Amino acid sequence: MIDLPDEEKEPGEKYRQLEEVIARYEREPGQLIRILQQAQDIFGYLPEEVQTYIAGRLDIPVSEVNGVVTFYSLFHTEPQGKYKINVCLGTACYVQGAREILQEFRERLDLKAGDTSADGLFTVKSTRCLGACGLAPVLTVDEKVFGQFKRRDVAALLRKYRNRAEVKSGDQPVERPGAYQEGAPAGP
Ligand code: FES
Repeated sequence: MIDLPDEEKEPGEKYRQLEEVIARYEREPGQLIRILQQAQDIFGYLPEEVQTYIAGRLDIPVSEVNGVVTFYSLFHTEPQGKYKINVCLGTACYVQGAREILQEFRERLDLKAGDTSADGLFTVKSTRCLGACGLAPVLTVDEKVFGQFKRRDVAALLRKYRNRAEVKSGDQPVERPGAYQEGAPAGP
């Protein structure tokens, strides 16, 4: 099993882990996606140098690796925040103020050029319909769904996750803003 991403890990150690992955899969055809997934687990994202390294080791063009990386949304070429926030901009959410919510996140996190906050805690993106239109406006933080979210809830949500990041053991309860509801996405 491969270790989870570790920001403290030396680059040499990460490449050593990548070598293990490549050695495991290089003889099996069609394993590029699996290698890229595990490379992303190791490095946290897939920068150009990692793509080039993998292409060299598999003896395939870098363009082939890059084509796969850019095709699948699960791959990232930039560092990602500890928490991934996706604001739904589907029609039902949009008419309920989702764009203003997205803008509030971007202003509060001072996101001018990129999508990730300077402290590395948050990556904020927009997404299409999450299938929970009855809860509009909806956003997710990692796998968690927040429905009937309001622009005024943004500050409390960011505070909640900042507090969580500071909790070392990870098990203590964290105060919730309470002004919005969390729920599972509706079925198709
Ligand atoms: S439009 Fe946002 S969940 Fe459907």
